[in-house]
Amino acid sequence: MTLTENPFLAGNYGPVHEEHTATDLVVEGTVPAELRGRYLRIGPNPFVDPTGPYHWFMGDGMVHGVELGNGTVGWYRNRWVRTDEIARAMGESPVSGPTQPLYDASNTHVMGHAGKIIAFTEGSIPYELTPTLDTVRRTDFGGPLPNGLTAHPKIDPVTGEMLAFSYWFAEPYLTYHVIDATGKLVRSEPITIPESVMMHDWAITRDNVIFFDLPVVFDLEQQPFPFRWDDNHTPRVGVMPRTGGDADVRWFEIDPCYVFHPMNAFDDGDSVTVDVARHPTMFKRSSVGPNDGGAPTLDRWTIDLSAGKVREERIDERGQEFPRVNETLLGSRHRFGYAVGVVTRDAFDGTGYYKHDFVAGTSEAHSFGAGRVPSEFVFVPGEAATSEDDGWLMGYVYDAATDRSDFVILDAHDFTAAPVATVHLPARVPYGFHGSWIPDAQ
Ligand SMILES: [Fe+2]
Repeated sequence: MTLTENPFLAGNYGPVHEEHTATDLVVEGTVPAELRGRYLRIGPNPFVDPTGPYHWFMGDGMVHGVELGNGTVGWYRNRWVRTDEIARAMGESPVSGPTQPLYDASNTHVMGHAGKIIAFTEGSIPYELTPTLDTVRRTDFGGPLPNGLTAHPKIDPVTGEMLAFSYWFAEPYLTYHVIDATGKLVRSEPITIPESVMMHDWAITRDNVIFFDLPVVFDLEQQPFPFRWDDNHTPRVGVMPRTGGDADVRWFEIDPCYVFHPMNAFDDGDSVTVDVARHPTMFKRSSVGPNDGGAPTLDRWTIDLSAGKVREERIDERGQEFPRVNETLLGSRHRFGYAVGVVTRDAFDGTGYYKHDFVAGTSEAHSFGAGRVPSEFVFVPGEAATSEDDGWLMGYVYDAATDRSDFVILDAHDFTAAPVATVHLPARVPYGFHGSWIPDAQ
């Protein structure tokens, strides 16, 4: 495959080459005055155009942010995370912090915890950022994190803890971590699994954590991304009491599939329910993928702890990914969930965005218009919310006609209505991964 054929360097997957600080942005509609803070989202953005094999998951990280307050937009900024290589390439001094265990990256998630803004890539030490997106330092939360950390820690909305894990190519293949509400790593527990698998994300409930031991295995022969599908790997989900250890994990076989992202999970008597974006396979034909088995569907797994079985149900056949809920309910039963529509091979080739009502058994679709493609959106609760969907949904929408992006705010309760606000940005925001709303008073 030549570089020009590499789908992860084409169209809006391709990198941007400038850092912007833009004020005086044109806004259509009205920014809700109660939104005081900043929406940050991160993604891959190679600093130097790759001259060899390149996979989307491996690119240098760039964070894009929009600051809101008093009904106005303060700024749009985009900044490369100053990994050591990026800092040197930009003529800056590298930041301090623990040495990376294997590779230096920061492209997958950005979230606020314990008054800090942290950017993550799995298998590496996270980076701390300022509210204006400058890189401060690498942080291991007091450590040690010899195998780095997942990019999908879960911040418990009740306790303020950040639960996390790390996975690795050598034993221990999996380690469970607890970072307390003050941002200190207080517990690390190795978990036994038979071999090294790509464990991108996981789920938590009030009482349990759920690990996904799925058939994408580590294989150094696969380059540039060292993982492949393996029919011989038994697909399992593991349920462990949050206060338990390796001996307490109960493993349950499921049908072969791959899950990058759960929507949410909750305890229900003797069962644990997990809603997931389920891919039929992953990296089966090649590790370039990603969706080589077809589009991911929205599925519900009901893990019956008494019977020792998992009931697997299809909630929605339509392709969708980047599922999110109102995260004040992370780990508790949710009524509503949101996911970005995807169609076939690429992660972003649809224009739809879905809101699911798990009580009514219905869903609504929001279209951003022809050629306008959303990335992940996040839910921000309203200041005086009276229902689970009382709040705002926000994210970036790429407009192919202008080759620029907008920052868009929807009213989650009035999902199919026109956006509450559309902020025109001076550049495009390449398709990326995950983000968070960081309120001023986090
Ligand atoms: Fe992810």
